[in-house]
Amino acid sequence: MKKILFIFGTRPEAIKLAPLYWEFKKYPNDFLVKVCVTAQHRHMLDQVLNFFGIKPDYDLDLMRENQSLFDITSYSLKGLEKVINEFSPHIVLVQGDTTTAFTGALAAFYKKIKVAHIEAGLRSGDKYSPYPEEINRILIGHIADYHFAPTERAKLNLYNEGIKDNVWVVGNTVIDALFLGLKIVEENRDLKNKIESYFNYFFDASEKVILVTGHRRESFGEGFENICNALKEIAELYHDMKIIYPVHLNPNVREPVQRILNGLKNVFLIEPLEYPYLIWLMSKCYMILTDSGGIQEEAPSLGKPVLVMRDVTERIEGIEAETAKLVGTKKENILKEVCTLIENHKEYQKMAKAVNPYGDGQTSKRIVEIIKT
Ligand code: UD1
Ligand code: UDP
Repeated sequence: MKKILFIFGTRPEAIKLAPLYWEFKKYPNDFLVKVCVTAQHRHMLDQVLNFFGIKPDYDLDLMRENQSLFDITSYSLKGLEKVINEFSPHIVLVQGDTTTAFTGALAAFYKKIKVAHIEAGLRSGDKYSPYPEEINRILIGHIADYHFAPTERAKLNLYNEGIKDNVWVVGNTVIDALFLGLKIVEENRDLKNKIESYFNYFFDASEKVILVTGHRRESFGEGFENICNALKEIAELYHDMKIIYPVHLNPNVREPVQRILNGLKNVFLIEPLEYPYLIWLMSKCYMILTDSGGIQEEAPSLGKPVLVMRDVTERIEGIEAETAKLVGTKKENILKEVCTLIENHKEYQKMAKAVNPYGDGQTSKRIVEIIKT
């Protein structure tokens, strides 16, 4: 029997690993599965664990208010040493590009334990954007023994860095999670009613909604000021649009957002949404303004145009499919692109098509099959 240790710490890792965790759990004779959360996020992580019914076996509980990269890296690495010593897994599984994912891979390597990297091979080509994720992902790629690339492009990125063996193109588990989440909502009438009545407070079926999220470190300061000033102008220009913004808990995000946008009557600054609420809103909104990696991947499946408030992205497939567009963090550009999508029906229709460049919902199955053999 193979001992598998999942290591994760933030909201997006939890979302993308949840379907994979449950897929492994289908084979109790083949795998002993344990979960270690660093809890680099706390509330935002617990929301996801709760929704997908995952109870961690180990919890490092490391989140601190406004933590630095040094804090997360050092506390996480030290905490993981103990967990790995105790469980002695055959394979450690990490996802994506967070500091938890990097320290999880590094800790496993220090103990000469095999590392499986989920969502391997994404590259922006700019070491400071996303920061520090681009470098985290590169480092994990060079440590990992199994590389689960979501797309052919990701595989090629690895190939170009000399990583040629044990690379499988399997899609992205984000789509498995999305389908699973939508199914749970569809089958649970109470939950669906709760979600609908929650959002009834903000908008009715005839109203158009812009969903906004943002949290990237490289945009702290001027970038966020610009984003908020653009949103303010959009709200003032289009009184009939509703802007719903679940604000990330990072204080570097909350300060400018509250200062610039609080009090505008068609802007709703709300707490981070539980995943089923977020995907419901995503499926009903008119368009999305975001810097989120996960949302860039989910939105095309739901046929929603995404304006990506970053200068570069490692999710090129959505841009190529023309469902997403890079708009940077300059106020005038964000404003111009939003106005186009609101006023130009043809341009809107061009972007509002349901395509699935990131997966088909079967990625977890493929990964488990590969690790089983
Ligand atoms: C982290 C990841 C980023 C990922 C993002 C997803 C790193 C360096 N960053 O960024 O790659 O895209 O998560 O959201 O790995 N906070 C809370 N409660 C929470 C979560 C965060 O209060 O549940 C606040 C805390 O003050 C915390 C701060 O947010 O110190 C920053 O959290 P951190 O995980 O360091 O950075 P994120 O910006 O969330
Ligand atoms: N998400 C959520 N609630 C929110 C905002 C986002 O559940 O209020 C989900 C979203 O659907 C996606 C993931 O969180 O699956 C993205 O997380 P985030 O943007 O924090 O991180 P990133 O993907 O950029 O690393």
